[in-house]
Amino acid sequence: MINVAIMGHGVVGSGVAEILINHNERIAKRIDKQINVKHILDLRDFDVPYSDKFTKDFNDILNDDSVSVVAEVMGGINPAYDFVKACLEAGKSVVTSNKELVAAKGAELIKLANQKGVSFLFEASVGGGIPVLRPMANCLAANEINEIWGILNGTTNYILNKMIVDNMDFDTALKLAQDLGFAERNPAADVEGHDACRKICILAALGFGKHVYPDQVQTEGITNISLDDVEYADGFGAVIKLIGHAKKQENGTIIASVRPTLVSREHILSSVNGVFNCVVVDGDQTGEVAFYGKGAGKEATASAVVADIIDAIRHSGVKKYLNWQDGYEGYVDCFIDEIGKFYITLKGNDYEALKPEFIAAFGDCFESYVFNEYRKEIAILTKELSKSQVKAKLAAMTQLNEYKILHTML
Ligand code: HSE
Repeated sequence: MINVAIMGHGVVGSGVAEILINHNERIAKRIDKQINVKHILDLRDFDVPYSDKFTKDFNDILNDDSVSVVAEVMGGINPAYDFVKACLEAGKSVVTSNKELVAAKGAELIKLANQKGVSFLFEASVGGGIPVLRPMANCLAANEINEIWGILNGTTNYILNKMIVDNMDFDTALKLAQDLGFAERNPAADVEGHDACRKICILAALGFGKHVYPDQVQTEGITNISLDDVEYADGFGAVIKLIGHAKKQENGTIIASVRPTLVSREHILSSVNGVFNCVVVDGDQTGEVAFYGKGAGKEATASAVVADIIDAIRHSGVKKYLNWQDGYEGYVDCFIDEIGKFYITLKGNDYEALKPEFIAAFGDCFESYVFNEYRKEIAILTKELSKSQVKAKLAAMTQLNEYKILHTML
């Protein structure tokens, strides 16, 4: 019998408890060992059939030598960081779904797990129920990873999809995502891109070998995206998706971003809908490999946590952790002048005067444009330009008083 503890009984934590308790026999047959949920830490009271397992005191877990694996599913940095560190120091393996913790403290906790000879696993921190970190570390081990793209946040993908397919406004779609249990406790973390940022940090760290900190990633959410943008994008043969991206550069630095992006309808990421996530990894031997599945939700995420618990039990006595080194300032290049096709909307003091100014400024540097007479707005898809070239053109337009620029995968 293996005793485990669960820290947190929210959406994911209750899912982990239910899988381990309701499917106990199935798991026991598979791993030849019975898993016993001995403690569940939460300050709240719950009326559930396993209410005898609850404690409000972390020390009940820390000081229980019979508990060898602890699942941290509380979220946030504090007190999760202190609790995880204490468990690892006490020689307990830890599995977590907490992307905020791994993105902020991953390198340090990996080092500690290594010193203590225990497992530190966090498959559920990226892509919910999608197996992506373990396959990247194991199955792509023969590859040099060059680039990673992903739809990494189920809530924003659900919202954008509702806007694209049902013409639904932003707030109604967000409310639906919250009701379905996809959103973070504070949905600002979803819609402002921070959740996806943490996930691209983890993917980049694993893929390229060095810790990437969230404040090194250029992050922009979807709060600025309107139904008009969705419609213009459609006219340009694209859909708007929140894309996490990381790429290795020849000088050893990387670039990393999370931003709303126009994705060509031909690209695999354009057809990732609803709460689904997809991570595309470019390995030098495999070429592009895609990992697809439910990126949020109770059962899917709990499935990944339980798989990590099973992995830690199976490899008890053998340290098992995903690995990367510390990062450093300057490792992520924030000043690169990226080149691509840009989507731009322009509004001016005098719409009629803005039109010839736009033509003069952009010359033949656009692929397509729309004069929206109703909104008195111009929407443009440029040819390949650098962002500084785009900014210079905009700076030359005296009538311009409002603009929006999005990157594209076109
Ligand atoms: N709020 C997150 C999402 C949950 O919507 O993807 C899974 O990390």
